[in-house]
Amino acid sequence: MGFRYIQWLSLPVIVLFFSLSHAADKSSSHLDKRYMSDGCASCHLGFDFSNGGGPSKCISCHGPANSVPQGLSSLTTQLKDLTKDFSKNYRHPVFDKRGVHSTKEGLPETDPSTPRHAECADCHSPHYVSSANPFAGLKGKRVGNFTAPITKEYELCYLCHAESANLPLKSTNKRAEFNTSNPSYHPVEGEGKNLAVVSLIRPYREKKTAANDISVLKCGDCHGSDDANAPRGPHGSKYEGLLVDNFATGDGIQENSYAYAVCYRCHKRSSILANESFPLHSRHIAGERNFKGGGTSCHTCHSSHGSAENRYLIRFNRDYVSESSTGKLKFVEKGTYAFHGECWLTCHGVDHNPKSY
Ligand code: HEC
Ligand code: HEC
Ligand code: HEC
Ligand code: HEC
Ligand code: HEC
Ligand code: HEC
Ligand code: HEC
Repeated sequence: MGFRYIQWLSLPVIVLFFSLSHAADKSSSHLDKRYMSDGCASCHLGFDFSNGGGPSKCISCHGPANSVPQGLSSLTTQLKDLTKDFSKNYRHPVFDKRGVHSTKEGLPETDPSTPRHAECADCHSPHYVSSANPFAGLKGKRVGNFTAPITKEYELCYLCHAESANLPLKSTNKRAEFNTSNPSYHPVEGEGKNLAVVSLIRPYREKKTAANDISVLKCGDCHGSDDANAPRGPHGSKYEGLLVDNFATGDGIQENSYAYAVCYRCHKRSSILANESFPLHSRHIAGERNFKGGGTSCHTCHSSHGSAENRYLIRFNRDYVSESSTGKLKFVEKGTYAFHGECWLTCHGVDHNPKSY
């Protein structure tokens, strides 16, 4: 064994070894000899430093049971297999875009020509990660001119889904959408603004008043594996949008509990369809009368994340909705929690100039 160590030991590694063992982050599972009997060599034997090592080393322990390295088998049999989620249709491109990550890189990306990527090491700091603090060792949250340690899941996501100069064309800045100064947002950074979300299913509440109320969400409440027994985290899912449940975003859709399953986890389907808030919900979603070919998705009227313009997450999907005959496209609320308002738009050739409820 001693000889194999020499193959990867070098001055920077030795220096880091001392700083790491001095920092002695004993809470990190990866530096705990009870788990990792080969210590640093468990990962660094034959390791490619240039791009974060890629997923292969990680998967040797966090993959199928038969890939576990010899000598660790008795300790690692309980580790869950992550490769299943990464083989699903909607996934972080960990295995698809290898070799882009650099240990020296700073995120969010400032060069628009850098290819998008997500390595295990972008989301997990291998020397610090622990079950008690999954984000330990990750930096990137901006505080003025400084970068502070990441403590919340959404801060990790913003490294690549907010100000990144290389965002895909159709993607939006998630920090801007979840900003708590917006008129409406799903409550991720803090509690929401709407005090009358009549469809909410307990334990979800507008404000936390009892110990088990949930009034703040994680990205992971909506994004993650379709399999509730899979390892936690937004690794992969069979559902489009890397969602924990199905969400149809189109038009002319047959409403049922599956079509909008992700919303119906927290918003009572019977309340929405009984028009307890928007009096025309059912008519648009289930498509009675006007739309014989089905109804339209929540996505046609609501943002899933937040709206910088409107209350109630109203954001019209321009794939189906266009300006009214007088060139207006807007939502106007009439009274707070009164469930009255008006819409200026055209949809299915029906002019709303405006239509009021
Ligand atoms: C769980 C696997 C794992 C273990 C155990 C591990 N490392 Fe690492 N190490 C990595 C990965 C992955 C990277 C690349 C991180 C990146 O690129 O973001 C890395 C990077 C490094 C680097 C380059 C660091 C830099 O910031 O440039 C050094 C040096 C290093 N490790 C030394 C050690 C030493 C010494 C130990 C034992 C105390 C150790 N590692 C234990 C996975 C591991
Ligand atoms: C030699 C085996 C081995 C390798 C290689 C390895 N890990 Fe681990 N990892 C472990 C063990 C053991 C634990 C502790 C599990 C526990 O606490 O139940 C762990 C814990 C973790 C956790 C925390 C899980 C939790 O309990 O919440 C994460 C995240 C993680 N590893 C990611 C990685 C990444 C990323 C890599 C590659 C850079 C990697 N691991 C490489 C064995 C390994
Ligand atoms: C290191 C960069 C990085 C980080 C950090 C990151 N992502 Fe991603 N994410 C990507 C890349 C690259 C893709 C592939 C599509 C793209 O380029 O946006 C992606 C795709 C996604 C998708 C699917 C998008 C679609 O079009 O279907 C979701 C959802 C997502 N990420 C959520 C998250 C969440 C939630 C977090 C935080 C827990 C997170 N991401 C953290 C890089 C990252
Ligand atoms: C209440 C559920 C919910 C929460 C919470 C949520 N999302 Fe989403 N997200 C969705 C749905 C539904 C879609 C697919 C429809 C769409 O694009 O709006 C989506 C789409 C996405 C996409 C792909 C589309 C795009 O704009 O790039 C990304 C990336 C994403 N979410 C990231 C995040 C991040 C990061 C967080 C946390 C900061 C988060 N989401 C929190 C429900 C949610
Ligand atoms: C886009 C970011 C991202 C990428 C890429 C990513 N993870 Fe994760 N992972 C997460 C998040 C977020 C969690 C959940 C942390 C929490 O809240 O406990 C997680 C959880 C985990 C866990 C703990 C699962 C459990 O239920 O105990 C392990 C182990 C893990 N990841 C390993 C990996 C490995 C190995 C890779 C690469 C093959 C990887 N992750 C890639 C974001 C990511
Ligand atoms: C035709 C546009 C439209 C569609 C489609 C639509 N909504 Fe709405 N929704 C609204 C409007 C407008 C309001 C605000 C009503 C008010 O308070 O004045 C609203 C309010 C809400 C509210 C807040 C009040 C409450 O009921 O708790 C929720 C939640 C909601 N919608 C969920 C959904 C879901 C889930 C779907 C898809 C199954 C959906 N909506 C489809 C227009 C729409
Ligand atoms: C994990 C639980 C959860 C899921 C999943 C979820 N929501 Fe919500 N939603 C909430 C909570 C909690 C609030 C209350 C926020 C507040 O009080 O402002 C809320 C509020 C809303 C509002 C009212 C926001 C406002 O400021 O008026 C709308 C509209 C809405 N959700 C639509 C949706 C749609 C559409 C989906 C599916 C894409 C969805 N929700 C999925 C938990 C969820």
